[in-house]
Amino acid sequence: MTPAVEVRGLHKQFGDLQVLKGIDLDVMPGEAVVLLGSSGSGKSTLLRCINFMEEPTEGRIRVGGELIGTERSGRMTYREADLCKLRTRVGMVFQHFNLFPHMNTLENVMEGQVMVLGRSKADAKENAMLQLARVGLEDKAPEYPARLSGGQKQRVAIARALAMDPEVMLFDEVTSALDPELVGEVLKAMRQLAEEGMTMVCVTHEIGFAYHVANKVCFLHDGQILEEGAPQMVLKSPETARVRDFLEGHSLFRLPD
Ligand SMILES: Nc1ncnc2c1ncn2[C@@H]1O[C@H](COP(=O)(O)OP(=O)(O)O)[C@@H](O)[C@H]1O
Ligand SMILES: [Mg+2]
Repeated sequence: MTPAVEVRGLHKQFGDLQVLKGIDLDVMPGEAVVLLGSSGSGKSTLLRCINFMEEPTEGRIRVGGELIGTERSGRMTYREADLCKLRTRVGMVFQHFNLFPHMNTLENVMEGQVMVLGRSKADAKENAMLQLARVGLEDKAPEYPARLSGGQKQRVAIARALAMDPEVMLFDEVTSALDPELVGEVLKAMRQLAEEGMTMVCVTHEIGFAYHVANKVCFLHDGQILEEGAPQMVLKSPETARVRDFLEGHSLFRLPD
């Protein structure tokens, strides 16, 4: 089976700072991969490279088996037009939802479909309502973001990304900025997506989510994948002191026996 995302030898450097130092990662279709790691380990940079908000310094990324970029004498070059197309195939949701404040929920979920994919307003609206239903918010279609809770806004952001029919969804700490009582509804929406078979890569500190939802957990340290495997293995029997320390430092480290 062809991986939905295949990362090989990925390096990313900002000036003199080496952030990613040779990442290899396969995400199979329908798989939910959770990336764990301390702050500054390179998790966001890895996600941003997968949807080419950042261009890799070195390495190859394939999405749906297709090499992104053009290889010329051993080096990759990237054309903006190709990257724009790629970004519609790889959806991303961030910690800070950036909904358009002057548009209601429905319009927020329609916008990209009309402007980027060129869908008719009628088609975009029909699909937007389906995606809002998927995250349990169809009744909020006419509301403006200012009148939504943080958890609802984040679910609209997820619906907006889903509306582009992505092959893969990337989630970067989407619950980290939420009040604790709002975290559950967003994790539930993500869990449902995973159960529907959406291919996803999630950066999260929610160890319980990783344990119950992920097919694979990868622990990033200093720009490399230090441990990788089934959640029952990495989270319950970590091989390195680094991962053990990280897990012990997490107040949410309460796993079933
Ligand atoms: N655009 C950038 N320019 C310079 N340094 C960056 C940039 N983005 C990230 N970094 C640096 O890369 C390192 C990893 O950052 P990041 O990928 O955000 O880590 P994480 O998401 O695991 O906390 C940090 O030292 C950060 O300061
Ligand atoms: Mg980050």
